[in-house]
Amino acid sequence: MRFELLQVAQAIALFSTSVLASGTSSSNFTTPGSLGILRFNPGAEDMHTILARAERETPQWQGFVRGKRLPLGVPSTSESRSTPSNLTPRAGPPPGPSEATIGYLHIRSALDGTSLGYAASAFNSFGEYGPTTSSQRLKVTIDTSMVNQTISIATTNGQDADLLFMVGITGFSNDASGLNPGKYNYVYVGAGGQTAVNVSPRSGDNSFSRATGNPEGIESAIFVLQSNFDIVPFWINGDGSKPNTSLGLHENVLFLTGDQDIFVKTFGSVTWVILSFEPELN
Ligand SMILES: *[C@@H]1O[C@H](CO)[C@@H](O)[C@H](O)[C@H]1NC(C)=O
Ligand SMILES: *[C@@H]1O[C@H](CO)[C@@H](O)[C@H](O)[C@H]1NC(C)=O
Ligand SMILES: *[C@@H]1O[C@H](CO)[C@@H](O)[C@H](O)[C@H]1NC(C)=O
Repeated sequence: MRFELLQVAQAIALFSTSVLASGTSSSNFTTPGSLGILRFNPGAEDMHTILARAERETPQWQGFVRGKRLPLGVPSTSESRSTPSNLTPRAGPPPGPSEATIGYLHIRSALDGTSLGYAASAFNSFGEYGPTTSSQRLKVTIDTSMVNQTISIATTNGQDADLLFMVGITGFSNDASGLNPGKYNYVYVGAGGQTAVNVSPRSGDNSFSRATGNPEGIESAIFVLQSNFDIVPFWINGDGSKPNTSLGLHENVLFLTGDQDIFVKTFGSVTWVILSFEPELN
């Protein structure tokens, strides 16, 4: 009992520290590891999971977190659609009637097309999506009328039922400069709320922060649908720039980065992948 209380006290102390730290860099969403080591995911010393649980379960924590950490509302879909079309990756014809289509996300090797399974409905212990070859596939809904345009992917059986979108979550070890050539920076694919099209990372509830207690920025409109239903990554940095990014699997986690070589040199081996949408067969 006493031990548990001590842990809670430690968690609160850690939390206070991170609130103070994030007060000076709240728009950068950086959370340097407390050991100063670059790690793809936080080590045990940076897992504030007791706190993460407290945030969810205690109304007073939620209020605090809402006040301090999650100040931005989630823009509505209609706002997203009214974004000027010159900001979309490719100016296409005006979208036709929306065609919400249910299906699954197939993951293949970018090298030789080998199937690596489907995006799984369950997260890993850090709240991140990866592949599964079992039947526990993530069921998604996308608007298939949005060919060549930025899309958000809605999920219907994700592990956290109230996090309705597949989102990009800024990497735990990132510096503030975003995804760029020459940078190891990366973005996990996890679950969260919807953000507008053409916005930089912003505060928002997400599966990684819930699992680890570390605040990170999110974006939901992080894919462009191709006419063959391949889904290519699309990320906007904090400064509004739109880097070329690659989608990979590292430690069995789907992620984006702006520099394949530097990422591998920093964190280790990656299987570069192609993601594609497979409509559910009726
Ligand atoms: C946050 O990012 C801005 C712009 O890149 C930079 O000038 C500033 O120093 C960063 N702040 C911290 C605390 O890293
Ligand atoms: C999408 O872009 C490709 C390549 O530019 C083009 O060939 C195709 O017609 C476009 N499709 C739609 C529906 O805009
Ligand atoms: C992305 O890649 C294309 C083709 O390789 C290149 O023309 C373009 O300049 C790149 N964009 C950025 C932002 O680096």
